[in-house]
Amino acid sequence: MGLKMTCVRHLAFRSSLFHRQCRLFSTSSRARTIMPAWVIDKYGSNDVLRFTKNASFPVINYPNEVIVKVFAAGLNPLDVSMRGGYGAASLSMMRDPLSIKQSGSEFPLILGRDVSGVIMECGLDVKYFRERDEVWAAIPPWKQGSLAEFVVLSGNEVSHKPKSLSHTEAAAIPYVATTAWSALVNTGGIKKDNCAKKRILILGGSGGVGTFAIQMLKAWGAHVTVTCSQNAELFVRELGADHVVDYTAGPVEEPLSMLEKFDLILDNVGGGTEHWALDLLKPWTGAKYVTLVTPFLQNTDRLGIADGMMKTAATVSTKVIKHLVKGVHYRWGFFAPSGVALDEIREMVDAGQIRPVVEETFNFSQVPQAFEKVEKGHARGKTVVQISKGGDDFAAQL
Ligand SMILES: NC(=O)c1ccc[n+]([C@@H]2O[C@H](COP(=O)([O-])OP(=O)(O)OC[C@H]3O[C@@H](n4cnc5c(N)ncnc54)[C@H](OP(=O)(O)O)[C@@H]3O)[C@@H](O)[C@H]2O)c1
Repeated sequence: MGLKMTCVRHLAFRSSLFHRQCRLFSTSSRARTIMPAWVIDKYGSNDVLRFTKNASFPVINYPNEVIVKVFAAGLNPLDVSMRGGYGAASLSMMRDPLSIKQSGSEFPLILGRDVSGVIMECGLDVKYFRERDEVWAAIPPWKQGSLAEFVVLSGNEVSHKPKSLSHTEAAAIPYVATTAWSALVNTGGIKKDNCAKKRILILGGSGGVGTFAIQMLKAWGAHVTVTCSQNAELFVRELGADHVVDYTAGPVEEPLSMLEKFDLILDNVGGGTEHWALDLLKPWTGAKYVTLVTPFLQNTDRLGIADGMMKTAATVSTKVIKHLVKGVHYRWGFFAPSGVALDEIREMVDAGQIRPVVEETFNFSQVPQAFEKVEKGHARGKTVVQISKGGDDFAAQL
């Protein structure tokens, strides 16, 4: 089915290439120029969040883009970090690769990485979606986010929303799901067909990425061991974890080293974990350690783009080689936006294999409280903001 979806998207893309020969650009035709949003005008703590009714209305600049009316937005630890300036150097470069604009041109910046909503307008080359389609997406951190009434995205980043979920539930999934998918499937080499009975360890399994990863791996038949705090044990077992190790009871490496070795480790914790975790892998079998906690953005923030990237490349290649000679693979995992991955995840959700884990829902006026909640940590799932209820409100926009 995944292949079928990819083919449909591929055909739509080919058709869009043909179409582009006739018309290069599409622009938004809507008369509106402003919308309500939560923005930041500088980096800092929670008091930099500002509500405005006058944020710029998103515009379709490329023919493959769509404007989505946001019904619900998901918050992630990354939003709290970005509010404080994390990743600013690299993300500014991705927004403006030729540094044509002045520094600070990213403001007013809209945060929010998950969206569930309805397509409001399609660029001229968009064939896969139509106005009023219900969709979900993970928004790349270099784009304006979902804490707003509308957001513009590439059609490749968007997917039809699961029918079995409300918008609030759907907004809990895309960012953590596409991150886990990218780490496990693209970087870790795991897929539905090769996962059965594989022994997989998730370090930090009770948070956003971990709760999704447990469910996806169980749906694909893996044996999943999880580390988390003791009070999350029941929660991760309900999601399907086969074996749970409490990190608050003492160093986890001791009980973990008594277990049969693993085929794959997904590390959501970082810090000192990589000093011992790779010893838990089966050597010379292709076993991989994939960490989502990497110094890439800190390096570019601290050293600038060129030196930061050089340091990053030197660090990762040294670690890869150091572990390769011991017969195990060391990898860094990254979020990657993917409508195709979300198409496959939608099918797992609608088949009842994956459920959304919403920890708390806030309304649009409570965005600062939602940030406080995420900042406190110890998440048992996702924090979601309901932006619009749809209905007449949406109909009036069309
Ligand atoms: N590289 C990328 O592109 C990328 C993308 C997304 C996320 N990430 C990173 O991936 C990590 C996980 O993201 P997330 O959204 O899942 O975060 P999250 O929702 O905050 O979850 C983190 C979980 O880790 C647990 N934890 C903390 N210390 C632990 C320890 N020593 N051992 C075991 N578990 C521990 C916490 O559980 P308890 O409450 O039980 O203590 C918490 O539930 C974060 O560091 C994030 O920055 C990276």
